[in-house]
Parts: sequence; C-alpha cells; structure tokens
Amino acid sequence: MSAPGFFVTGTDTGVGKTVASCGLVRALRAEGIDAGAMKPIETGVGADGPQDAHALRRAAGNLDPLDDVCPIQLPLPAAPSVAAADAGSAIELEPIEDAFARIAARRATVVVEGAGGLLVPIRDGLQGRGFDMADLAARLGLPLIVVARAALGTINHTLLTLEAAASRGLDVAGVVICHCTGPLSEADALNLAPLRGQLGDRLIAEIPPLAPGAEADRNGFRLDRLLARLR
Ligand SMILES: Nc1ncnc2c1ncn2[C@@H]1O[C@H](COP(=O)(O)OP(=O)(O)OP(=O)(O)O)[C@@H](O)[C@H]1O
Ligand SMILES: [Mg+2]
Repeated sequence: MSAPGFFVTGTDTGVGKTVASCGLVRALRAEGIDAGAMKPIETGVGADGPQDAHALRRAAGNLDPLDDVCPIQLPLPAAPSVAAADAGSAIELEPIEDAFARIAARRATVVVEGAGGLLVPIRDGLQGRGFDMADLAARLGLPLIVVARAALGTINHTLLTLEAAASRGLDVAGVVICHCTGPLSEADALNLAPLRGQLGDRLIAEIPPLAPGAEADRNGFRLDRLLARLR
C-alpha cells in the first residue's frame, strides 16, 4: 500500500463519520490488513473522555494509546479553532503529526477521522485564510473518504465537498452514503438514485439504517474499489 491510510471527512457533522470509520477499520482488519485509527482533534469531550476516539480505538483492537489516537481533546462542542480559543489555546500540528507517525509506524494503514467537514477551521491564519481539515488531510498525505448523509440535501452537499476536495488538490478514494437519519421517505429514497449513479465506482459503501448502538456491517465495504487506488 503506497498511501499510509485514509482521511475520513463528511459533508457535515453528525453524518456517520465515526460509524463509517469504525466499519472501515473492521473491514480492513477482517482482510488481514492491520488498520489503526485516529481522531486527531475531538471537541465536546466531557468527563467520560473522547467518545469517537474510544470507538475508533476499540474498532482497531485497543492497541494504541488513547493519547496517540486522540492527541487534541477539547471540551467545547464547536469547531476546533473555536474550541481551542475557548480553552485559551491554539491547536499545534506537531502533536498530531507525531501521534500519526507513531501509529503509522506500528500499523499497515491508518484511518483518520476528521472533525466536522472539510473546511472546518483548525487554526486561524496569521494572514489570509487559516489551516483547516483539508489542510490536515494534505499534511498527513492521505486520500479522502467522504461520508454523506442519505437524506434530502445530500446531492448538493456531496458535490460541494467533492468540488472543494478537487480545488484543494485532494484525492478522493471513495464516498460512503450513510443512512444516519434512519429510514428514508419514498421521495428521499428516489432522490438518492442520481447521486449513486454520479458516484459510480467511487461509492464504496452504503450503510443502511442501523439499530441504536449497532455497528456497520464490515462486509458492506467495497475494499476492492478502495485498495486498488492505493497500490
Ligand atoms: N446508518 C445509521 N443508522 C442509524 N443511526 C446512525 C447511522 N449512522 C450513524 N448513526 C447515528 O448518527 C449519529 C451520528 O453518527 P456519527 O457519530 O458516526 O457521525 P459523525 O459524522 O462521526 O459525527 P461528528 O461530526 O460528531 O464526529 C450517531 O448517534 C450514530 O449512532
Ligand atoms: Mg464522529
């Protein structure tokens, strides 16, 4: 595998990035690929710790220290730059890159879950624009996996995200459609058909509505479509 892993972003917050990332990690591991996982920046972290990072670490076999899986943990449930400012700090990239390097050294590949969507701010710029999730994916050298919600609005949100990725020079390895809002109305289900058609082979999984607490089926991922891009 030539790329060190995948950067999982979403068309929005709450679209199923964690559910999809955990499913992908399990799918890779079931294929004998030693996949690790990271949530480099988690906001909204309470007394019970970083919930996304816990789920990702569990999916990856509980092998990596939590501080490597999630080096930046912030209490305010907001965009990283906002949550960091609220905590009286600014996010440094070095701890993220160092933790990624340690996990990547131990593992065959790393699935990294971003926070929110692609243009979510991580650091304010000193001049011009700041450093955002797209910049982090580029800095870690990872192709994207875009998670899109299945509900109405997703054609626009997905195509906007793919355009933003292209304009920032990021490779998109695949798209996951996640039925995170539960069963669709007939109209919403019909609305999804053109998006599936437009994505073609880029669609690597469609995660159906899950019961509360259920995991995505690891057999639902088209790893052939994903891994062929990395070899
Ligand atoms: N296919 C599904 N069916 C039912 N519920 C789902 C599905 N996918 C995700 N959910 C639920 O939707 C919520 C959001 O999912 P998830 O946490 O994976 O999103 P996210 O994009 O990682 O969010 P964040 O931006 O906070 O990291 C969770 O409560 C999750 O259990
Ligand atoms: Mg998440």
